[in-house]
Amino acid sequence: MENKTEEEVSIIKVSSLTCIDLDNSDLHQSAVLLKQACLDSGFFYVINHGISEELKDEAFEHSKKFFALPLEEKMKVLRNEKYRGYAPFHDSLLDPENQVRGDYKEGFTIGFEGSKDGPHWDKPFHSPNIWPNPDVLPGWRETMEKYYQEALRVCKSIAKIMALALDLDVDYFNTPEMLGNPIADMVLFHYEGKSDPSKGIYACGAHSDFGMMSLLATDGVMGLQICKDKDVKPQKWEYTPSIKGAYIVNLGDLLERWSNGYFKSTLHRVLGNGQDRYSIPFFLKPSHDCIIECLPTCQSENNLPKYPAIKCSTYISQRYKAVHAHLKQT
Ligand code: OGA
Ligand code: NI
Repeated sequence: MENKTEEEVSIIKVSSLTCIDLDNSDLHQSAVLLKQACLDSGFFYVINHGISEELKDEAFEHSKKFFALPLEEKMKVLRNEKYRGYAPFHDSLLDPENQVRGDYKEGFTIGFEGSKDGPHWDKPFHSPNIWPNPDVLPGWRETMEKYYQEALRVCKSIAKIMALALDLDVDYFNTPEMLGNPIADMVLFHYEGKSDPSKGIYACGAHSDFGMMSLLATDGVMGLQICKDKDVKPQKWEYTPSIKGAYIVNLGDLLERWSNGYFKSTLHRVLGNGQDRYSIPFFLKPSHDCIIECLPTCQSENNLPKYPAIKCSTYISQRYKAVHAHLKQT
C-alpha cells in the first residue's frame, strides 16, 4: 500500500458493520442483530456462510482471465437484450447528476436460467446465459455456475433471518412464489483508474441497489463507500472494507418498498484508487410474478401502504430501463 501522510489517513473514515454468523443455530439472536444492522446502515457482514475460499478465489481468477482477453473476444459475448453477458467500460451511469461519464468498470452478467421445460423459461428476466468460448476459457462456465448456486443458497439463508427480523414466519420468503424462481444476477466487475469526485469521475456512481439484497465479494482492494444518511448535506461517505472470509450484504430498494419503508436501502458508490479492482456482487430479487406489496407486519398506523403493489418483474424492468436509458443515445 502506498504511504499516506497522517492527515490523509485521518480523513479516511472506515465504517464498522455488524457481523452475522450464519452458522449460529439461534436464528432469533441473529435476527435481533440483523434488524439493528438494517435499521442502522442497511449494510452488514455475513460469516460462516459455507462458500469455500477456494471456490471464491477460483471465481475471481476466472473473472480476471475473462477481462484480460482482447476486447474483440469480449465483444463476442456482448450483453444481449436481457442484459446477460459483457458490458464494456462506461456502459452504466448510476448517478447522472454527479457523473460526467459512465462508471469506470466493465462487467459480465450471469442470470437465472430456470428449467427449459418450466413455466418460467423465457420470461423477461429468465433466459439462457451466454458464455465465453470454452476453448478460450476452459472450466469458466462450470466455476461460475457453481458459485452462482452457492451465492443463491447463502441469500436464501439470509432471507430466513430477514423474515424473522421483520416478525414474519422464518420461511416467509422461501416459497416458490417468492424466491422459487428468483430474478437473481451474479455480476463480475473489473474497475480501473483513479476516481475524482471533484471532476465527476467515479468507478461506480452513487446508487442504491434495486433488488431485495446484494451479497458482495471483492478482491480486497478498498473502494466501496457507503452513505448512511442520504439526506444529511454534505453527504458523509465511509469506506467499507472487505474482510477475509466475510461477505458484505446490503439491502435494496425493493425490500425498502416491500417493508413499507421500514428497512432502508443505503446509498453507496465505489472510488478507484488507481489500482485494478475486481468484485462479484450477487443481486437477489424475488420471482417474476411475486407481488411486492406492503408486508403484513409492516403496515403503518393509518394502514395505508406508502407504495402501491407492483409485480416484481415490472418493478425491475422500470429500474433497468432508467439505468440503461443513456445507451440508446450513444
Ligand atoms: C453494485 C455495487 C460494489 C462493488 O454493483 O451495485 O455496489 O464493490 N458494487 O463492486
Ligand atoms: Ni450497489
